[in-house]
Amino acid sequence: MKSFTLIVIVAIFCPVDCLSLGDYSTVDLSDRHDVENHVNRFTDDADDDIVAIFNAINYRQFYCRTGFHLQIFPNGSIGGTPEDHNRHAILKLVMVQTPNIVALKGVDSGLYLAMDRHGQLNTSSILTRSCVFKEEQMADYYSRFSSVRHPSKRKRDPGTGEEKTMDDPWYIALDQKGLPTNAQMTKPEYKRVQFLPRAVDPEKVPYLYNFPVVQQLQEIRSRLTKNRL
Ligand SMILES: *[C@@H]1O[C@H](CO)[C@@H](O)[C@H](O)[C@H]1NC(C)=O
Ligand SMILES: *[C@@H]1O[C@H](CO)[C@@H](O)[C@H](O)[C@H]1NC(C)=O
Repeated sequence: MKSFTLIVIVAIFCPVDCLSLGDYSTVDLSDRHDVENHVNRFTDDADDDIVAIFNAINYRQFYCRTGFHLQIFPNGSIGGTPEDHNRHAILKLVMVQTPNIVALKGVDSGLYLAMDRHGQLNTSSILTRSCVFKEEQMADYYSRFSSVRHPSKRKRDPGTGEEKTMDDPWYIALDQKGLPTNAQMTKPEYKRVQFLPRAVDPEKVPYLYNFPVVQQLQEIRSRLTKNRL
């Protein structure tokens, strides 16, 4: 009991960086199965309760500058809500590779956010390359997330020899109505591609923190209390 309490305390107060569960630097992003196996080993299908609790440290709400939190619905569609701590807007930031290569997974839906080859936001029940994004942190704590499948193309100007970026990266975006924007239409300076990762308060969404070990602990506690009476 004591050691469990300690782990929970450490899990809650430790900075995220010191808790990365394994070495992500060796994942081959061009190999779909490698990405899947590597990440799943540490994050999904965690039958170990402690791992599940550690995962909960990476729960976030992604608040877009247009005023909406990114949502992943169980039916696989993507939306946005102004509401704080909306059930479908609690996402897990999955570290795929350090630094800044991530995936976003709906906690309630269990689905990964994906971007298809036309730039449309979509979801996937397994982690594939379409679900992997590069996080660019901005100076004011907002971040942009671009698909690793669509890095911006560069071309050398034959005249000057200068390298130019041909197109912008494909960013996750929510428009002024909270609807996803096709990533081919996004620009880094647009408000709609800028997201603030916000902390999640477990007391506001207790049903997303329903880990068996916590329930067991509560049962033990109530049994002990009864025995004393
Ligand atoms: C998916 O669910 C959301 C929220 O319940 C709903 O607004 C949306 O219309 C649904 N989409 C489809 C394709 O059923
Ligand atoms: C989203 O993914 C599903 C399943 O892979 C696919 O059937 C569907 O066509 C995709 N939707 C879009 C808009 O690409």
